Amino acid sequence: MRTYLVTGGAGFIGSNYIHYMFQKYDSQIRIINLDKLTYAGNLENLKGVEDRDNYTFIRADICDRDAVNQIFQENDIDRVVHFAAESHVDRSIKDPEIFVRTNVLGTLVLLNAAKAAWELPDGTYQEGKKFLHVSTDEVYGSLEEEGEYFYENTPYDPHSPYSASKASSDMLVKSYIDTYHFPANITNCSNNYGPYQFPEKLIPLIINNALQGKKLPVYGDGKNVRDWLYVEDHAKGIDLVQEKGRLFETYNIGGHNEKQNIEIIHIILDTLREMLPESDARRELVSDDLITYVEDRKGHDRRYAIAPDKIKKEVGWYPETKFEDGIRKTIQWFFEHEEWMKNVTSGSYQKYYQDMYKI
Ligand code: NAD
Ligand code: TYD
Repeated sequence: MRTYLVTGGAGFIGSNYIHYMFQKYDSQIRIINLDKLTYAGNLENLKGVEDRDNYTFIRADICDRDAVNQIFQENDIDRVVHFAAESHVDRSIKDPEIFVRTNVLGTLVLLNAAKAAWELPDGTYQEGKKFLHVSTDEVYGSLEEEGEYFYENTPYDPHSPYSASKASSDMLVKSYIDTYHFPANITNCSNNYGPYQFPEKLIPLIINNALQGKKLPVYGDGKNVRDWLYVEDHAKGIDLVQEKGRLFETYNIGGHNEKQNIEIIHIILDTLREMLPESDARRELVSDDLITYVEDRKGHDRRYAIAPDKIKKEVGWYPETKFEDGIRKTIQWFFEHEEWMKNVTSGSYQKYYQDMYKI
């Protein structure tokens, strides 16, 4: 049975990936989820898988060399899928240091542990071992012109401390590929949305605020463009890259779904109005008047867009979920998980929100 070490599996994309993998492979695989459970990690995201015999959760920091080495010594890990990171641009602007620690140092610790466990005396690696590093399209910087896209060979030009730390981690993985022939892939994906996303990111924040009649903060002129990818499509892409992709290669994973932030907000408001039953008191609260333009994010990248040509051609992946469907599924999930939202927005989230928005 193949054993996966998933880092950051209690976060947004990691937990969706774990659900996807068990749906697809059921008892054919074993997953070890290594997560520190920062503010962004939540074991509630894994309800339904935690009782499985072929799932293990280990609470540890990826920067803790001894803890990570021990996991490799005690388990015959076949695949690493590395999600664990500090992931929010706004937080990186306020406090960059933890981003460098987790994203750069943590990635190095994992690379070293996997290399030590998998390398043979002649410098080659045990058959079938693979490391997949999950990264972002933000490493490529910002696009201005419509019709321009990020490709795998687009030069790196990160602007935020977050994207600089992810770019650094990518460079470390690339250096292990080039120097040690380490069996890795890198995927750079666009903005994800879907179930279990923490409401510091645009889409869940807008859904949550709108349902409570709270202001909807729009940075700058609201015309920044992001390329939205449904998280389950992303999970599928990661699996396909490990199964069918060429080792050592980078693959961009994008939604082919560019939208301005203000368009996203209007779509969410319209969809909420359409989906909420007449009898639901929250219908009264959902209003365009909640849209509030606030000070722009420092160094705000204007536009991200991926042309996912390589992954389509080489592994047959494409973004299956249309935005109209993905946003409905996401909103439906939030309707059905009010408790989840209440739990993640209690306590420290309130303080974060007050410090960040002051509205
Ligand atoms: P997230 O913030 O929701 O989850 C991160 C997870 O990592 C959490 O469970 C957290 O507890 C864990 N973690 C943080 N620091 C850790 C540490 N030191 N040791 C162990 N675990 C730690 O993030 P996400 O949105 O799921 O993103 C996952 C990955 O995908 C990240 O590497 C991110 O850079 C990348 N990515 C995300 C997006 C997106 O739209 N969310 C887009 C592109 C790339
Ligand atoms: P975000 O979800 O933080 O993802 P990223 O910065 O990684 O792209 O933000 C998506 C876009 O939405 C980005 O252009 C910033 C903007 N934004 C707002 O306008 N208001 C908000 O409250 C947030 C969180 C983001």
